[in-house]
Amino acid sequence: MLSSPRYIYVKDAYRDEMVGKEVRLRGWVYRHRVVGNKIFVVLRDPTGIIQCVLDRSIVGDEVFDEVERLGIESSIEVRGMVRKEPRAPGGYEIHVRYAKVYGVSRDFPIKGGEGIDYLLDNRHLWIRSRKLTTIMKIKHSVLEAGREYFLRNGWWEVTPPILTASACEGGATLFELKYFERKAYLSQSAQLYLEALIYSLEKVWSLTPSFRAEKSRTRRHLAEYWHLEAEAAWYTMDDMMKVSEELVAYIVSKVLEKNKNELEFLKRDLTILKNAVETPYPRIEYDEAIEILQKRGVAIEWGDDLGADEERELTKEFDRPFFITHFPREIKSFYMKLDRDRPDVVLGFDLLAPEGYGEIIGGGEREDDYNKLLQRIIDEGYTVDDYKWYLDLRKYGSVPHSGFGLGVERVVMWIAGLDHIRDAIPFPRFRGRIYP
Ligand code: 4AD
Ligand code: MG
Repeated sequence: MLSSPRYIYVKDAYRDEMVGKEVRLRGWVYRHRVVGNKIFVVLRDPTGIIQCVLDRSIVGDEVFDEVERLGIESSIEVRGMVRKEPRAPGGYEIHVRYAKVYGVSRDFPIKGGEGIDYLLDNRHLWIRSRKLTTIMKIKHSVLEAGREYFLRNGWWEVTPPILTASACEGGATLFELKYFERKAYLSQSAQLYLEALIYSLEKVWSLTPSFRAEKSRTRRHLAEYWHLEAEAAWYTMDDMMKVSEELVAYIVSKVLEKNKNELEFLKRDLTILKNAVETPYPRIEYDEAIEILQKRGVAIEWGDDLGADEERELTKEFDRPFFITHFPREIKSFYMKLDRDRPDVVLGFDLLAPEGYGEIIGGGEREDDYNKLLQRIIDEGYTVDDYKWYLDLRKYGSVPHSGFGLGVERVVMWIAGLDHIRDAIPFPRFRGRIYP
């Protein structure tokens, strides 16, 4: 017998060729039950859980008495043999010969059945839950696939600032802060900076936190979220929509490939998710969206913005992600290029996730004419001086260009089938909360 067997992860114990092998495992006590002279410890590590059985006659009184007293979430190491055991959850267990306690945990504050506010106060501990761990693994794949998509298609990754001097998405959701002797803001979007970077690199992308001082708490708004943004010179709105759908299809395909177990644990229905791997996605114009909504009995008029409720209603018409384009200029940002033939609408698009989720991407073509952009800035009532640098981009070799921003947690929320965005980020920030 090996004197010092190797450390393995829980998932690696669930294999026939491991049966009869001596192994070491480290992790946390997930469940704990004492039956006479036996202790059943379910051990948790990043890869899963497995039952470990400690017999007093094998581990000895000292180890037995120490492990017997452990509470859930204590950290331990066990050494023992992998055995097939049909009665154990998952069909395998560890027959322990020796156990070492690292950190005792007594009276872990989360026992099950607590309310959401309590769980949010204890987020630093709740984050160990299997549900949140599972979602973080899916998010990892989303981020990995996003980066991979851009790397494979010749885009440059760049690092725009978070501290900014002006608003990108309007003053209403701007976080203000004291910046030495002046005011500054937390970035709502890297877009304006990405635009500056296309004049040297042409096709750029970034992953940064974005901040929105949303006035109300909703199921899909965070105050701090991760923003995957792309911007490219020479690209039309149509070109950018193609990039958006390819990116989303790639992300979904990768999650379907790499996170089968996680999606199954979350009991995610894969039917519609699988449709999202195929492109192109359907496209409708805002006008048509309004018609659909009116037909469905929603009280809405041309010119109104589409909120979560309207978007949810629209998703009932589609069994895959879909685009809405050509929004009225009044409801979209100042930088959006107006349609040449219809200057009441912009060359902007939103990509909506099906199954009620709604907007996951916002993007479009940018106004590249100096005078038109200046007029839009004045019309919005912004301080022109704040946008002098941004206007400069239209003064020195302006080019047609487009871009978009994808809300990472929105995508995770949809792919994982969550009913609230807070579980798509380990430490959610929204109105009224910042702890822990
Ligand atoms: O539609 P938005 O506001 O567009 C922009 O910020 C553009 N400047 C992006 C660009 O073109 N580079 O935000 C983009 C995406 C939304 O589609 C949504 O997925 C996500 O960011 N998002 C949020 N996610 C979580 N919480 C919030 N409060 C969000 N606000 C926007
Ligand atoms: Mg938007």
